[in-house]
Amino acid sequence: MALLYKADPVRGATWQKLFGAEAPEIDFRHWPDTGNLADIRYLAAWTVTPDLLASLPNLEVLFSTGAGVDQLDLTQVPDHIQVVRMVEPGITEGMVEYASFATLALHRHMLHYRKAQAEARWAPIKLVPAKDRRIGVMGLGNLGRAVLTRLGSYGFALSGWSRSPQQVDGVTCHAGAEAMPAFLAGCDILICLLPLTAETHGILCRKTFDLLPDGAALVNVGRGGHLVESDLLAALDAGKLSGAVLDVTEPEPLPNDHPFWRHPAILLTPHVASMTQPESAARVLMGNIRQHRQGLAMLGTVTRGRGY
Ligand code: NAP
Ligand code: GLV
Repeated sequence: MALLYKADPVRGATWQKLFGAEAPEIDFRHWPDTGNLADIRYLAAWTVTPDLLASLPNLEVLFSTGAGVDQLDLTQVPDHIQVVRMVEPGITEGMVEYASFATLALHRHMLHYRKAQAEARWAPIKLVPAKDRRIGVMGLGNLGRAVLTRLGSYGFALSGWSRSPQQVDGVTCHAGAEAMPAFLAGCDILICLLPLTAETHGILCRKTFDLLPDGAALVNVGRGGHLVESDLLAALDAGKLSGAVLDVTEPEPLPNDHPFWRHPAILLTPHVASMTQPESAARVLMGNIRQHRQGLAMLGTVTRGRGY
């Protein structure tokens, strides 16, 4: 019974050592040293090709090395193969840090002060207490919940939106498309932490921005495909939105001549909000393989029909 790893080689070398020391019963194979392909029951990868899948006749589980699975074309993965995304504390902590940074930067007018400093202008803006700043998170999964919990410690007024009804302590929760207008009406800062699916593609569009309070700000840490770029530029230029922090774009990397790079109301980072941490992620993977060997549920199993 073997696990084939085919992703970032530096992380792979760390995982190989950790599996050798902590899970010697799992035969860890680091691509391209596959050995006999018929031994491979588990594949850990960021992306896969139909050829790779076809070469693994006994594959049972495909593990994404990241939290998202939108980079995998699930229609190409045979139905009998389970797909599992990465749910590990390192990714969560990175996202909590970044979302806190982005929220605090917008809350404390850092885009305005960045511009004022570049112009050597002393231009203070009246401070808004955190309790009067309404933060809304789209996506109440592992990451959205963890982000809201940390933001609650600053005293912000919190709300969240998901597909099915959810409960999060201290958060006003909304669910489903019909609840979206009420949710958006109460967001001074909107954070997107949705998975990219057929339903959520392009969800950050003019219609959504129009439902936000005037002068609201956006943080997109989901995927670039959530955002309709021209609608964001129009909303910023019209003053409907006051600023945006974007960690993800479509495509990545963003071309050098893209208007986002130089827009004064956009803070752009190169998809670094959070990253799979080799040690904690390896332990989650070991745990999941052991669960699967015993016929038990794995953490992060994707529901194929939903796409997340
Ligand atoms: P998750 O646990 O699967 O949670 C997804 C949440 O989104 C759930 O609350 C789900 O609703 C909600 N949702 C899905 N489709 C929806 C829809 N059509 N309408 C309303 N709500 C919907 O995912 P996660 O682990 O929190 O990760 C979320 C995403 O973050 C990932 O898919 C990835 O794209 C992104 N991410 C980005 C980075 C980065 O560095 N920028 C790093 C990691 C992850 P239910 O609760 O009803 O199921
Ligand atoms: C990163 O974006 C991930 O999905 O882990």
